[in-house]
Amino acid sequence: MIQKGSDHFLYQQVIDLIQAMQTSGTLRPGDKLPSLRKLSSQLNVSIPTVKQAYVELERLGKVDARPKSGYYLRSARMGIASPKRPTFVRRPVEVRCQTLIEEAYEAVHSPNMMPLGVSHPVMASPPDKALARIMRRVLAQAGPKAMAYGPMDGYAPLKRQIAQRYLEQGVEARQEDIIITNGAQEALAIAIQCTAKAGDIVAVESPTYFGILELIENLGMMALEIPTCSLDGICLDDLQESLDAHDVKACIFSSLINNPTGSCMPERKRQRLVEIIESRNIPLIEDDVYGELHFCDEEVLPLQAYSKKGLVITCSSFSKTAAPSYRIGWMLSSRYEQKAKGFKRALSCSSSLLNQWVLTEYVRSGDFDRNIKRLRQVLRQNKERILSLIEQYFPEKTCVSNPQGGGVVWVELPPGCDSTEWFRLAVSESISITPGVLFSATGKYKRCARISYGLPWCQTVESAVKKLGELSYSLLNKKMSKAG
Ligand SMILES: Cc1ncc(COP(=O)(O)O)c(C=O)c1O
Repeated sequence: MIQKGSDHFLYQQVIDLIQAMQTSGTLRPGDKLPSLRKLSSQLNVSIPTVKQAYVELERLGKVDARPKSGYYLRSARMGIASPKRPTFVRRPVEVRCQTLIEEAYEAVHSPNMMPLGVSHPVMASPPDKALARIMRRVLAQAGPKAMAYGPMDGYAPLKRQIAQRYLEQGVEARQEDIIITNGAQEALAIAIQCTAKAGDIVAVESPTYFGILELIENLGMMALEIPTCSLDGICLDDLQESLDAHDVKACIFSSLINNPTGSCMPERKRQRLVEIIESRNIPLIEDDVYGELHFCDEEVLPLQAYSKKGLVITCSSFSKTAAPSYRIGWMLSSRYEQKAKGFKRALSCSSSLLNQWVLTEYVRSGDFDRNIKRLRQVLRQNKERILSLIEQYFPEKTCVSNPQGGGVVWVELPPGCDSTEWFRLAVSESISITPGVLFSATGKYKRCARISYGLPWCQTVESAVKKLGELSYSLLNKKMSKAG
């Protein structure tokens, strides 16, 4: 308790108290500290004293101050470094990753699996009840119309809602520029086929989302990997050198939140990225599925906002923010509109009208925005918790990213460990993770894996993460006994 006559400054005593609560587990990484007013009245000290303690804790890197929200405890993150950049050879390659992707998907969907291998961050705060309520109402009102085909490029009121959201962000978007797709994956498939053909070179981040690599593989294109730092995204010098050296027909980047690292490019860098690519007249496909789930204190804009030539095609969806199973996504592009519509017609004719109706109502009701706000907070808290567990239970020399949004961390095990082996061991314990090699076209990231924290946090999740730590130790021991 606070001792007023002691030699210790009062604010220091408040700090000691918070640290003691952290040590005892009363306060855990990601938790919100009591408000200034509440703690000052509980401890019978002034508000400025508590404020001084919180500011000092922030200076020491132990808490985060979030505007209009409060102070949050960080994980200790003492010696835990970010994954290192591997060596890159600047050469386009054919992609071959299908077999392991199949194995990873199978693992995610086996019964009783702890799904740490799937990125569905909305499950951390799922809006199932709100969506079910709307679905019931819509079904009752629509009668047989609910079974009909929808318009090829999407349900106009939903397109209007999406366009309005872009306009509110300051991004010029007309309802006609939006095509509703079956998830972002179809939007990406259409965008890439509007801009490149078999044999063409497409620049991708490295590491990048394996769904993009799978598209490139299936379309017979070549991938050119551009190094992407787990702190601030794509390395622009490398990008320029690669564009100088090769005839790149399109780029596919997630500049806001990268999957798997969770990196977020700073605004100035994002702006520069668009300048570089548009100055070379190369189409830039922006995969922005996690953009709304960033942890930055100020709003961040999609690359579309910086486009001067209309060469940016934005692809996104409701999969990460509302319901992955609805399979509703969209693409935004004026320049490629006609070509894109042709592909959409040929590929899937239209997307589920019923699901578009439900999402239109969900967005209109305001619940969508309210849940995104809540979701960001929950994900941020989960992130601190998983980082803290990794720090405690994983071997020394493990590295981990510090995601700036989304629901996954990128972990690099110590030298000698193989993450595909780790993945298979984990599956035998009913835990799925995603092995690192899936995120590269050239077999990089053999020691890395993506682990999800985008699910309701509970004791079982904690035990699964601890188990992953145990399994990584067993990989290390095996390696040492082989060496011995
Ligand atoms: C970076 C990224 N892009 C696109 C997708 C595909 O999204 P959707 O489920 O909307 O097709 C995913 C899904 O995991 C993703 O992580």
